[in-house]
Amino acid sequence: MATLQLGILVSGSGTNLQTILDATADGRLDARVRIVISNRPDAAAIGRASRAGIASRVISHKAFDGRRSFELALVHALREAGAEWIVLAGFMRVLTPAFLDAFPMRVINIHPALLPSFPGMDAQGQALASGVRVAGCTVHLVDSGTDTGPIIAQSVVPVLQNDTRDSLAARILQREHQLLFEVLRWISQDRLTVYAATNQQRARVQLDDVNPWFGLDPMP
Ligand code: GRF
Repeated sequence: MATLQLGILVSGSGTNLQTILDATADGRLDARVRIVISNRPDAAAIGRASRAGIASRVISHKAFDGRRSFELALVHALREAGAEWIVLAGFMRVLTPAFLDAFPMRVINIHPALLPSFPGMDAQGQALASGVRVAGCTVHLVDSGTDTGPIIAQSVVPVLQNDTRDSLAARILQREHQLLFEVLRWISQDRLTVYAATNQQRARVQLDDVNPWFGLDPMP
C-alpha cells in the first residue's frame, strides 16, 4: 500500500493537525503531510506545522475576489505539493465544486457533532441547547453541502448534566483526535470503498473489517 500523501487545511488551533503530525512522525500512520495551508494568518496550526518541519502556507480567502479564485489557489498549492488526500482539520470555509472536483471523493472533514444533526457552526452549542443526551463527532467525505457528505465513521460521548458548551466541546475534541487518526489509518490500509450515488441511493462509504462506531463497545 502506498503512503498517503496528505494536504491539510486549517483555520485555528490545529490540535487535530497535531494528532496527524504525531502519528506520522512516530510511524503509527503510514502518511506524509506534504503541506499545511491556513486561510488565516494567525492560526496557531501554522506554528505546529513549522515545529514539525512541514511546509506550510497562508492563503487568505480575503486576498481573492471570490470563492472560485480562492479555491483554485488552494488546489494549485496542494497539487504542487503533491497532496492526494485532503483533510479539513478545523478549516472554517465551505468548499465548492471548484475545489472538490480537483480531488473527487478524496476530501475528508472532521465535524464535532453526530451528523446529520447539528451541521454548520457551533455544533457543540447546538447539541447542548437541544438537550440531547449523547453528542460526538463525525468524519465524512466532503461534498458541496455543509457537512452533508457520505459519513465514514462516528464516535459518541455523553452529555453530562453540568456540561457547559466548553466542557462538552473539550470532551468531543479529544474523541475527534482519536477518530480522525483511525479513519486516516483505515484509508492508508485501503479499507475504504466509496460507492457513487445512484438513482436509488446517495453516495456511501463501505469500510472493510473495521469498527465504524468507534469508541463504543463492539456491537454483539
Ligand atoms: C474542531 O472541533 C473541529 O471539529 C472544528 O473546529 C475545531 C478545530 O480544532 N471544525 P483544531 O483546530 O483541530 O484544534
